[in-house]
Amino acid sequence: MTRARDRRRYARAISALASDGPRCPRRRGERVVTFRATGPWTLERVRGMNVKEITRWLREDDDARLDELWREADDVRRRSVGDAVHLRGLIEFSNHCGRLCLYCGLRVENRAIDRYRMSADEVLDCARQAVEFGYGTVVLQSGEDLGTTREWLVDVVRRMKAETPLAVTLSVGERSLDDLRAWRAAGADRYLLRFETSNRTLFERIHPPRDGRPSDRPAMLRQLRDLGYEVGSGVMIGIPGQTYADLARDLEWFAELDLDMIGVGPFLPHPATPLGAAAAPASVVASAPGGRRGTSAGSSATASPAGGRRYGPVVPPTSEDPPPPAATSGQVPNTELMTYKVIALARLLCPLANIPSTTALATVNRAEGRELGLRRGANVVMPNLTPAVYRRQYEIYPAKACISEEADACHHCLTQRIAALGRSVGSGRGDSLNRLRCPAGARIAREATP
Ligand code: 5AD
Ligand code: FES
Repeated sequence: MTRARDRRRYARAISALASDGPRCPRRRGERVVTFRATGPWTLERVRGMNVKEITRWLREDDDARLDELWREADDVRRRSVGDAVHLRGLIEFSNHCGRLCLYCGLRVENRAIDRYRMSADEVLDCARQAVEFGYGTVVLQSGEDLGTTREWLVDVVRRMKAETPLAVTLSVGERSLDDLRAWRAAGADRYLLRFETSNRTLFERIHPPRDGRPSDRPAMLRQLRDLGYEVGSGVMIGIPGQTYADLARDLEWFAELDLDMIGVGPFLPHPATPLGAAAAPASVVASAPGGRRGTSAGSSATASPAGGRRYGPVVPPTSEDPPPPAATSGQVPNTELMTYKVIALARLLCPLANIPSTTALATVNRAEGRELGLRRGANVVMPNLTPAVYRRQYEIYPAKACISEEADACHHCLTQRIAALGRSVGSGRGDSLNRLRCPAGARIAREATP
């Protein structure tokens, strides 16, 4: 996979990470992990891989080589973050959204869903249930809902922190610096905001701006870090128009942004969106055993001569929508296999990050998608705590796994699956080792002298 010298250096760095335990190197006046301290974070320095090599891995089709990748990712996962699988209780508290993202079922133009906002008491009830189940964290997620005011969320976070020992993660889209500051001051610990793609042109095509304001998610991620949040981000895999080079660059961004949490999943076409599928979503298919062969994760994608996928726009764009991007010859397929490759490579690049095996993965392979994610680099799962009556209305993509289960069903299902893998359920908040090691973030790591 890499030259022998790189392998040895990396192994030394990883065992140093595992044995040193969490602490901030600056406080102790010592050097940080050497491979991080030698300059800008390029894949070459971090792992002996450049973007070309990453791209080769993303295109790799040989089973034996892929087995090598899975083994390496699993090994690094075990040595850097251990065998515990942390559970994050997901509370989807509002499905209102003011945005027009071309892929997302919650977009404001989708009039086919009933919109809801849970009350503060309902959200608090879910948090108490998380405590009963032994979870250390809840994730409060919603569409980009300006009806969720700064004050309302301050109140919810304050109450949650006063009444429970939970770490609180917010995932509420792009919000103002003042909002982020107020929620952090109220006690919020973590924030998730996927940058979705590092290709700026593609990002702009699939995210029409709100009120004409351009987005700058990397800048917002840095702001979050400066405010003291643990920061999570990620991408969708197989967005129409996304190339292998784009995806390799996405992986490079994970390391450059020094992410504490990395969430990735296949793009799943939603019929009520401009990028959606022509046929019914029910044909989201289970993959070949082991997810070895790429299985298209949605019904609108058909194989193209270049081995990529073609996506048919189905719902006519509204007048405000830009034309949907077309798949290119270097198109990344939105497959289960590609998702495992990205999880494994993310683990190698960001050994200490918390990486979930996502619901989108469970959606494309209900039988064992979550398990395979956990065996190929992931160390987190996110059981859903949203009351079933609301959960059905939170359909960002179709045929979402666990859409009708109640929270205790998800809890038991996931704990059994984790035990069957021979892994343990993590206790406590499951804070990011990446963050604990160096609370002030990547800047300190970069400043340390080699
Ligand atoms: N397919 C896959 N993932 C999606 N998301 C939103 N819509 C879709 C879709 N159609 C993901 C985005 C978002 C996260 C909350 O859900 O990456 O950041
Ligand atoms: Fe707003 Fe998806 S478009 S949450």
